[in-house]
Amino acid sequence: MKTPVEYINSNGERFVQELADMLRIESVSTDPAYRDEVARCAGYIHRHLEKVGFKVQTFETKRHPIVYAEWLGAKGRPTALIYGHYDVQPPDPLELWRTGPFEPTMADGNIYARGASDDKGQFLAHVKAAEAYLKTAGQLPVNVKFILEGEEEVGSGSLAQFIKSHTDLLRADVLIVSDSSQFEAGIPAITYALRGIVAAEVVVRGPNQDLHSGGFGGSVANPANVLAKIISQFHDEHGRVTVPGFYDDVLPLAEWEREAWSALPFDEEEYRQFLGVKELYGEEGFSSLERRWARPTLDVNGIYGGYMGEGSKTIVPSSAGAKISMRLVPNQDPERIGRSFEEHVRALCPSTVELMMTKAHGSPPLLLPSEGPTMDAAAEAYRKGFGVKPVLIRQGGSIPIVTTFVEHLKVPAILMGFGRPDDNLHSPNEKLNLEDFHKAILASAYLLEGLGGA
Ligand code: BES
Ligand code: MN
Ligand code: MN
Repeated sequence: MKTPVEYINSNGERFVQELADMLRIESVSTDPAYRDEVARCAGYIHRHLEKVGFKVQTFETKRHPIVYAEWLGAKGRPTALIYGHYDVQPPDPLELWRTGPFEPTMADGNIYARGASDDKGQFLAHVKAAEAYLKTAGQLPVNVKFILEGEEEVGSGSLAQFIKSHTDLLRADVLIVSDSSQFEAGIPAITYALRGIVAAEVVVRGPNQDLHSGGFGGSVANPANVLAKIISQFHDEHGRVTVPGFYDDVLPLAEWEREAWSALPFDEEEYRQFLGVKELYGEEGFSSLERRWARPTLDVNGIYGGYMGEGSKTIVPSSAGAKISMRLVPNQDPERIGRSFEEHVRALCPSTVELMMTKAHGSPPLLLPSEGPTMDAAAEAYRKGFGVKPVLIRQGGSIPIVTTFVEHLKVPAILMGFGRPDDNLHSPNEKLNLEDFHKAILASAYLLEGLGGA
């Protein structure tokens, strides 16, 4: 009989085909037009987990289904809860994709498609590791529960409810989340902190309709001009956010973090070139890693208003708006920051226009203990699966639901990312490296073994 590792090594190509099958499903959670595709993806995963040997239940929600699966045959052993999300970001702008976002394509050792790295490829690695055990040894080294949601990219509203109403079902000794990245190709990372987020939209309204900018311009405040002026005051000349009290609760970096991060192989100039910018920019007094991982930010995600088509059109637009997100770090509170932001915008807005603000979503930052037995098991799994020891880092993205899991289930969490920083998450030409996919499956298998105490 084969070992799980032999099984993984000899089934690699099929695993990639199965990933491709899932990537063909257009599970965009934010846009109601894709609703059926999101449901179809849940169905695919449900059947897939059943074939692997799990007992599976799909829970309908107000929005997108939650797929729960369990295998609880390891009596007396710990239980691992593995979280992932099968929803993806919209593929736009389509014209910048070299191949269709939902036509998975292999090229230069990667698989290209929306969701390849965020997060279908990453959670599938765990499913395939479980399969390797069940199809060889006939059992897993630990009890395993999968919880896969379709709303991560829209704030995990349904799962937050679900965790509270299904506490016993989800009870576990460790939570495993693979929805982040390695530090760089070949240097896997255990992540102990993520940023939180507050997302809001600001709209200013002026005249009751678009006006001829010759006929009326100059006699009325232009909402686009006004909005631009408000936005231009969000940062001071030191790159600091001007929202009053914004930095009050920010936990300063610990000495060991500053030291450990400056020892990481990170080159600011290479980073500049990777981003394709003329110069790096950010809050004065901090390195790029510190700015990305440990400092809060305010960014305009999108801005609109007036004529956006070909050529020129001489109008004063009747309104203009911007989508804003702030990234929060420990110990900032999303409620408090959201309120301060709103007051700040009100104070900056002149009385010539009408201001409207909506809060999209908010979630607190996450700071996990940076050591412990589960961390050790994860480090050892990476060492065996990837052939190198992982580094311990923070990351700048947000996975809001992890906080709910940790606080509500009182469970230690491991953030074990398999992607790469250049995977183009949320961007055109998202990809996952195929060798990493394979190593991730191995690492997951070693992790299950390690958690089982073997
Ligand atoms: N997987 C990402 C979060 C992430 C990205 C963590 C990079 C670590 C490194 C996740 O799918 C994501 O994009 N989250 C959103 C959450 C938001 C929509 C509430 C984010 O960070 O913008
Ligand atoms: Mn993700
Ligand atoms: Mn994402």
